[in-house]
Amino acid sequence: MSFDIRVNPNAPAGSLEAKQPPVDNGLDVPDPSRYYVPEFMRKEWERLWPRVWLLAGITADIPEEGDYFTFEIGHESILVVRQADGGVKAFYNVCPHRANRVALNEFGSVAHFTCAFHGWQFECDGKLKCITDEETFAPQLVAHRPSLSEVRCDVHAGLVFVNMDGKAPPLVDWIGLPKGYLENYQIDKMHAVRHVRSTWNANWKVGVDSFYETYHLPHIHPQTQGVMEDFSQYDLYPNGFSRMIVPICNVSHRFPDQKNVNPGQAYMMAEAGMKPEEFSGTAGEVRAAVQKAKRARAKRLGLSHYDNFTDGQLTDSWATGLFPNVQIGCHPEGVFIMRFLPHPDDPKRFYYDNITMFRYVDDPDYFVPGWMGLPKGTDVTGRTRPTIEHVPEGVKPELGEVLDQDVELVAAVGAGSRSRGFKGPLWGEQEVRIRHFHRELDRYINGEK
Ligand code: FES
Ligand SMILES: [Fe+2]
Repeated sequence: MSFDIRVNPNAPAGSLEAKQPPVDNGLDVPDPSRYYVPEFMRKEWERLWPRVWLLAGITADIPEEGDYFTFEIGHESILVVRQADGGVKAFYNVCPHRANRVALNEFGSVAHFTCAFHGWQFECDGKLKCITDEETFAPQLVAHRPSLSEVRCDVHAGLVFVNMDGKAPPLVDWIGLPKGYLENYQIDKMHAVRHVRSTWNANWKVGVDSFYETYHLPHIHPQTQGVMEDFSQYDLYPNGFSRMIVPICNVSHRFPDQKNVNPGQAYMMAEAGMKPEEFSGTAGEVRAAVQKAKRARAKRLGLSHYDNFTDGQLTDSWATGLFPNVQIGCHPEGVFIMRFLPHPDDPKRFYYDNITMFRYVDDPDYFVPGWMGLPKGTDVTGRTRPTIEHVPEGVKPELGEVLDQDVELVAAVGAGSRSRGFKGPLWGEQEVRIRHFHRELDRYINGEK
């Protein structure tokens, strides 16, 4: 038995597109209780979340000195601030006086922070600026000049990460992806154009598992078969990272009509600036034609970073898993970041956080890709940062047809995982990323990391 899909069989060994060597993660069937018992969640709060690098946000959200955003993980709120020297620092978002949140907004820009409770002030680098009525404090109480408590913070490829563990390896050693992998997309030149956070009824790991394979596509999302292959290339990287290359613009090998160009493909050709009615090739030739058109358009528009992309990257989704709780769908036009944020107390719920990022190109032939599913009238220029749409619990998030199907699926799997009749997940060769992720998670839970 072997499942060895290579999207580009000619990819040079060692290149970013090449199939990675297999990793033996065994065939253990984990106990399904990891998906619902409070005890496992408690271990995650103790041994996983405070010790890993977590994607806190994007650099595009804090371009200028004093710009900040807050990132919530469990009961922690972390404040991430752009510094005068261009660097980025992070702090626990808590006032050292009496624990009020120092920043109450998700985004903002300040000259310094003022705590709303009693007005203590802090510089953007976290240092205490002033204590209100300081003469009313015994000097020894405040002699250490109580400042904001710093959290480790580092930036990679336009993404801001934080780590609450002083002993964790540096971010650069922890990112399991090869050099250039994320950098090539130039995420720092993109902007958030939509940000939606909804609550899903399952453990956060059910969410990760569901988005880590395309095995379910023909069953849950059959409508994708006209424009997407569901046999993806799966690759495993160190530290629990992984990737799947999902070929797009071609028909699935399961699709009945392999010859005639279908409307979905025609739409994608138009999106790439082609005239589909003039295309005389077959369905199987569309993907290469779109790649060619996108390459030519990039040349015309001076998008020189396209030179770093393989042809496959111009059409396909490189869905990239950042251990433990992030997947980024990487495309040349933009990226789709999904964060699976655990609920602070309930192992049977998580927050599904989506940031859609787009690199604006001011040209009438350059379109926002349909996969972004942006509502009509969305500002894609990057001039305004959209506020986070918090979808109230119990309300359908309206994330587009495919993701709406996933909402229902994930809730059913979350409920099913708690059944006495379920003995644990049986992961096949199209699910190696899931096993890789859980194996790494176990290293934290079992104290191996
Ligand atoms: S809690 Fe912040 S000034 Fe008192
Ligand atoms: Fe899905």
